[in-house]
Amino acid sequence: MEKLVINGGNKLFGEVRISGAKNSALPILSAVLLAEGEYLIKNVPQLRDISTMFKVLDSLGVTAKQIDNDVTVINTENPELFTADYELVRTMRASVLVLGPLLAKRSAAKVSLPGGCAIGERPVDLHIKALAQMGAEIDVEHGYINAQCKKLKGAEIVFDIVTVTGTENIMMAACLADGKTVIKNAAQEPEIVDLARFLKKMGAEIKGEGTKTIEITGVKSLNPANYTVMPDRIEAGTFLAAVAAAGGNITIKDSPVWAMNSVIEKFKEIGLDMDITDNTIVARMEQKPKAVDITTLPYPGFPTDMQAQFMAVMALSEGLSVITENIFENRFMHVAELKRMGADIKLKDRSAIVKGGNKLTGAHVMASDLRASASLVVAALAADGESQVHRIYHLDRGYEKFDEKLKFLGADIKREKE
Ligand code: EPZ
Repeated sequence: MEKLVINGGNKLFGEVRISGAKNSALPILSAVLLAEGEYLIKNVPQLRDISTMFKVLDSLGVTAKQIDNDVTVINTENPELFTADYELVRTMRASVLVLGPLLAKRSAAKVSLPGGCAIGERPVDLHIKALAQMGAEIDVEHGYINAQCKKLKGAEIVFDIVTVTGTENIMMAACLADGKTVIKNAAQEPEIVDLARFLKKMGAEIKGEGTKTIEITGVKSLNPANYTVMPDRIEAGTFLAAVAAAGGNITIKDSPVWAMNSVIEKFKEIGLDMDITDNTIVARMEQKPKAVDITTLPYPGFPTDMQAQFMAVMALSEGLSVITENIFENRFMHVAELKRMGADIKLKDRSAIVKGGNKLTGAHVMASDLRASASLVVAALAADGESQVHRIYHLDRGYEKFDEKLKFLGADIKREKE
């Protein structure tokens, strides 16, 4: 196990380059199950979750190799293989993204039910219901989703709740279904648009990605394609939080600005001074952040994946900020840890009331999930004295070389063995 030792107080200066988006690379790597052959997927971040997805693909007969940020995939389809086992799915819930492609291409799928995680129960009932609507015979027993279907049929799917991976699973499954599928109340996240672009390069017929209604017309077969994954809007947002907390002047290169409107707006409101082009954000912070309320919503609303990082900045602000989390039922695990650093935060139902004005002091804190760990690092950059962030394997799941990038910007941060 490793920890990060951070001495707060250094302002951040210099340039940082954003890596490829984890939540785009994961569905794209699942989509290679839809067509045999060789793929070159570029700008894939080097993360634990990505290597877990390689293991899932390997167990399905697909080999994936990563050199730096380039991944070559060879799918010599092995239709007898259709099981994503508990050990792998337990490690990474996003493995459930192989469910749709396996059913569509291999007519069978046996995928462990992804357990919950720190931020919530994380059910996949909507994925299952939609695939059943497309003709799949599905039962759930012994902790596995067992599904089979000779040929999926296009259907009209209306999601009761906006679900990102649910939309992705159905979009992938529908590419090879008979007829047309319409997904209503679809997720509009930029990663869905990225996946659709990749699928269309493979020959899929998709319209409406990025809106609430996506139409997919099934085709007989798809072909392998090469692709470059979009940059990670949450990593870019996390660096905005870091400079808003620590102060300084940084240039964030390869930012997917087109996908960051709600985040950029909020950082403008707290007083972060930004010069923005279509893929670079120069961000300067010379004063304390202003207190601003946020409410997390499906895209294009403020992303739940930025809630914890933003809260760390609000803990340093002057005034009172109300942070409401509408997506996950338990995404306030970082609150207790921020309070150990002196933050004044009260929880009430789905909201956290953050009273700024306190000086944060360095402390030993425990990461609990991916974005909570980022939030603790952001707070530690501005806290007085030394902090130690423990269990940073959570961080390594979703941020490529985060501590090295921060060190390069002038943070006093080092990775040590526990
Ligand atoms: C994706 O998770 C992301 N993961 C999450 O990022 C992100 O926080 C989340 O979308 C919301 O934006 C990946 O893309 C790999 P949902 P996902 O299905 O798809 C409920 C990170 O930090 N729901 O959109 O699992 C669910 O409980 C991760 O990188 C059902 O009830 O989220 C939640 O309350 C964390 N039934 C809400 O919908 C279902 O069948 C939204 O979940 C599916 C979802």
